[in-house]
Amino acid sequence: MLIDTHAHLNAIQYNEDLEEVIERAQSEGVTTIVVVGFDRETITRAIELAEQYEFIYATVGWHPVDAIDMTDEDLKWIEELCSHPKVVALGEMGLDYYWDKSPKDIQKEVFRKQIALAKKVKLPIIIHNREATSDIMEILQEENASEVGGIMHCFTGSVEVAKQCIDMNFYISFGGPVTFKNAKKPKEVAAEIPLDRLLIETDCPYLTPHPFRGKRNEPSYVKYVAEQIAELKGLPFEEIAAKTSENAKRFFGIK
Ligand code: NI
Repeated sequence: MLIDTHAHLNAIQYNEDLEEVIERAQSEGVTTIVVVGFDRETITRAIELAEQYEFIYATVGWHPVDAIDMTDEDLKWIEELCSHPKVVALGEMGLDYYWDKSPKDIQKEVFRKQIALAKKVKLPIIIHNREATSDIMEILQEENASEVGGIMHCFTGSVEVAKQCIDMNFYISFGGPVTFKNAKKPKEVAAEIPLDRLLIETDCPYLTPHPFRGKRNEPSYVKYVAEQIAELKGLPFEEIAAKTSENAKRFFGIK
């Protein structure tokens, strides 16, 4: 049993062969897929998929890169969707200082609004962080995000930051980058942090794990992430698969 806690099957990259992608995931033991929405189109599609497939759940949020596009109506819409039975978290949300489409102050405002909403509707949050660690940590603390908890998605930070996140009631999720040969920090963190705070994901269609790096990613490849973590922790693959699935179910409140 494997759970992909962060997949974008709502992306246009799957328009041609979604059924086959889902069948491959199931034949590789992926029992649950969480499809993450981050703007109007991807949220709409995430909800559609969650309604269509029993083993697919959805999250709803606004990506920091597009923070400048989010209107009050969008936030209201996201709030309404939070009562949908298949919506299990808010996000992805956060800060992205790599792309400069949205100014930092607008990103921060949109991030804070979504944390406030998560506390209101009592759902956990999924954090996207690109080159913005210290501002993210500051906002999570100031907004008391530990009240709802969350996931640091595709974590590539240090052991020290990972431990601070865990102290704030967050989980650390690893994707394809932990399998890359030069990924020293993610490997260190995966080896170090307690197994009961660890999750796995693909972030497909992006960040494809070794040995398919460079190709389109898909949920069936989450097993390569689990295999890498098993190796780093010196534990059997089955134990990593079982524990990360247990963690994901506890976090998202799914059966
Ligand atoms: Ni993502």
